[in-house]
Amino acid sequence: MKKTKITIIGTGNLGLSILKGLLASSLKKEIEITATKRKLPDKPLIESQQVQFTTDNVWAVKGADVVIFSVQPGQFPQVAEQVKHLLNNKVIISTITGLTLKALEQTLGKENQIVRSMPNTAIAVSQSMTCLSYNGGEESIKTAQAIFNVLGKTLIIEDELMQAATVLGASGIAFWMRLIRATTQGGIQLGFDADEAKAIAIQTALGAASILSENVNAHPESEIDKVTTPRGCTIRGLNEMEYRGLSSALIKGLTTSYEMISQIKVNMDA
Ligand SMILES: NC(=O)c1ccc[n+]([C@@H]2O[C@H](COP(=O)([O-])OP(=O)(O)OC[C@H]3O[C@@H](n4cnc5c(N)ncnc54)[C@H](OP(=O)(O)O)[C@@H]3O)[C@@H](O)[C@H]2O)c1
Repeated sequence: MKKTKITIIGTGNLGLSILKGLLASSLKKEIEITATKRKLPDKPLIESQQVQFTTDNVWAVKGADVVIFSVQPGQFPQVAEQVKHLLNNKVIISTITGLTLKALEQTLGKENQIVRSMPNTAIAVSQSMTCLSYNGGEESIKTAQAIFNVLGKTLIIEDELMQAATVLGASGIAFWMRLIRATTQGGIQLGFDADEAKAIAIQTALGAASILSENVNAHPESEIDKVTTPRGCTIRGLNEMEYRGLSSALIKGLTTSYEMISQIKVNMDA
């Protein structure tokens, strides 16, 4: 069977996570990967016969079925200029924050099938929530789903919701980290040492998320009902947290991030 050739342009934090995740996934036997950087390190970033590293974007794109752009926004115009004439009939995926489908079409050509993606840093452990938008090509979105579904979960959204997805999904990692840190600190105050408190906080967060993730009919509020005995300690603690603004602080934080991201104009000057 012919292997799908995937080229990753830009093998930094995200590009390398995608690369490693794909090599550890069920797609491993079906793909060959070419990855580009401006400067190659003396030692290969990863030892695998399925991966070739190069600084030559043009060569890397020529042989590809799928091209994933994973450079910084300011680095994209130069890369696009080098390879845009080679993109016909290839699946194009961008991970570049802030670059709309319209901007991608303007730079790469409207005729191309383009998918915009917004993963988060949990892609490094194949647990990303990746939101996807696309400009109509069914083959391209199916290919993007196949790639990102082995690196976590995907959701197709309207392109205009991408900034909201960036806040909820990508910045969301920081928000959840802070919640885990806060509960860890609470655990230390209650008598655990830091490692024990962190272990309990992490597994409890994972457990709560798994209950909802594995049962589509579960709702956070009905799961809360299951652990709140009338007049009990859980409801008392929860109500105290709400009195001190837990939910409203979280929602206000999300909307503040969103207001800020909505004002940012992506600087595409190299
Ligand atoms: N990190 C995340 O979790 C995340 C999540 C969502 C979206 N994003 C978006 O994904 C993109 C990449 O993020 P990142 O964190 O991986 O950035 P990064 O660590 O700075 O990586 C950028 C990579 O692009 C390479 N590069 C730059 N110019 C190039 C060129 N002309 N040819 C070939 N390679 C080139 C760099 O090569 P050198 O190393 O040789 O300089 C570097 O490896 C950004 O637009 C970011 O906004 C990232």
